[in-house]
Amino acid sequence: MNRDQLIEHLRFAKELGVTGVSRDPAWRAQRDKGVGSRLQILPAGTQHLQTTPDPASALRVIRTDLGDCTRCKLHEQGRKQIVFGVGNPDADLMFVGEAPGGDEDIQGIPFVGRAGQLLTKIIEAINLKREDVYIANVIKCRPPGNRNPEQDEVATCEPFLFQQIDIIKPKVIVALGKFAAQTLLRTLDPISRLRGRVYDYRGAKLIPTFHPAYLLRNPSSKREVWEDMKLVRRLLQQSEI
Ligand code: URA
Repeated sequence: MNRDQLIEHLRFAKELGVTGVSRDPAWRAQRDKGVGSRLQILPAGTQHLQTTPDPASALRVIRTDLGDCTRCKLHEQGRKQIVFGVGNPDADLMFVGEAPGGDEDIQGIPFVGRAGQLLTKIIEAINLKREDVYIANVIKCRPPGNRNPEQDEVATCEPFLFQQIDIIKPKVIVALGKFAAQTLLRTLDPISRLRGRVYDYRGAKLIPTFHPAYLLRNPSSKREVWEDMKLVRRLLQQSEI
């Protein structure tokens, strides 16, 4: 690494909250244990560093890295803005949808249209508020005409979702609809087969359920979603014990 690269590296580390370095190998072993952990600065002269998770600033770094993203073709297909994610960076519960729709594209916030209003009710049904949870999508830009995201778009965008999950470290993830469930679980099984079970996923319990937009068209499926949400509530309660 030359001098300029080292400066660039240290500048990036500073953005993550790193305020000191250590040559102590024991520190390196500790740091490597956790993704999303950052180093806490200690007073000058202190010989060791400790890790302090700061999910809010780590998420800001990811957002900065995304920038005005042009990594896939969606940036030139009419998207107005990137819809990164919203909510509590320390959330125990995270919802993952498919991709922003028209309302989300305008407001820059996931799940704010009709489906989003239903999602808010679903969240409130288990006595939580939108601000308590974190909400994101597999794809951060609106596909034209709300078409399904394409494979190259998913491949380009999903690492940012994975980083969000690894930073937030939710206890439970709800995958909303076939697309999110299939993408996260790397399967082509239909949502009807995927839901009703709990999956281990990146340190969380993952519950697939129907997408709120599907529920708007098929209100009778709300009963199954309620069952899924009761399971979510149980898992959250168990994790508190
Ligand atoms: N549908 C999604 O999957 N995500 C949104 O943000 C809005 C609608």
